[in-house]
Amino acid sequence: MPTVSGQSEPFVPGPSPSDLEQIPAVFRDDVESVLIGADDIHGRLDELAAEVDHDYAGRELLLIGVLKGAVFAMADVARRLTIPASMDFMAVSSYGSATSSSGVVRILKDLDTDIEGRDVLIIEDIVDSGLTLDYLMKNLRSRRPASVEVLSLLTKPARREIELPIRYVGFEIPDVFVVGYGLDFGERYRGLRSIATLKPEVYAG
Ligand code: IMP
Repeated sequence: MPTVSGQSEPFVPGPSPSDLEQIPAVFRDDVESVLIGADDIHGRLDELAAEVDHDYAGRELLLIGVLKGAVFAMADVARRLTIPASMDFMAVSSYGSATSSSGVVRILKDLDTDIEGRDVLIIEDIVDSGLTLDYLMKNLRSRRPASVEVLSLLTKPARREIELPIRYVGFEIPDVFVVGYGLDFGERYRGLRSIATLKPEVYAG
């Protein structure tokens, strides 16, 4: 699995100078560095979608996107799949500070679909402590689907408080707060095409 870190790891995506140029001028001063460029994200999603296609060949999937962070991952995975896949969304709010969750989760928007007997693939933007996903998986399993698996674009293993089986992982990243490709800080930066870190003064407000 690709790993993004300063150490000598198997794979370090290389953001190109154009990754910084792609950041809208109004946000460019806020960005400290581009951790994963748009091309690397799309290349990795090609690989993950091919794995999903292979693993679920002959079956029909229900993709469940976790709003709002997973919107782009959901769209980009869904349009790469060649197996039949329907889409549904949940919105959850996790109580906590601006940059970490507490595991106390509230469902803001539930599914429209009855998932009993269905093969479900949860699409997540990032798994950090794992508390939100742990709640979500328990909640969905109680509805008796045929299977529940997870695809997450990013994971921060160093922050994990609960071990969870994440079947498809885009990139492992270090313990840094990131924005872009659906991820926000105070509802900003979701639309960035790459995954980036912000300058400390931005977090300080
Ligand atoms: P967890 O419950 O700690 O795993 O947190 C999961 C949720 O926290 C994610 O779905 C994101 O919404 C948010 N989150 C965690 N880390 C980051 C980050 O680095 N940037 C933006 N949001 C994050």
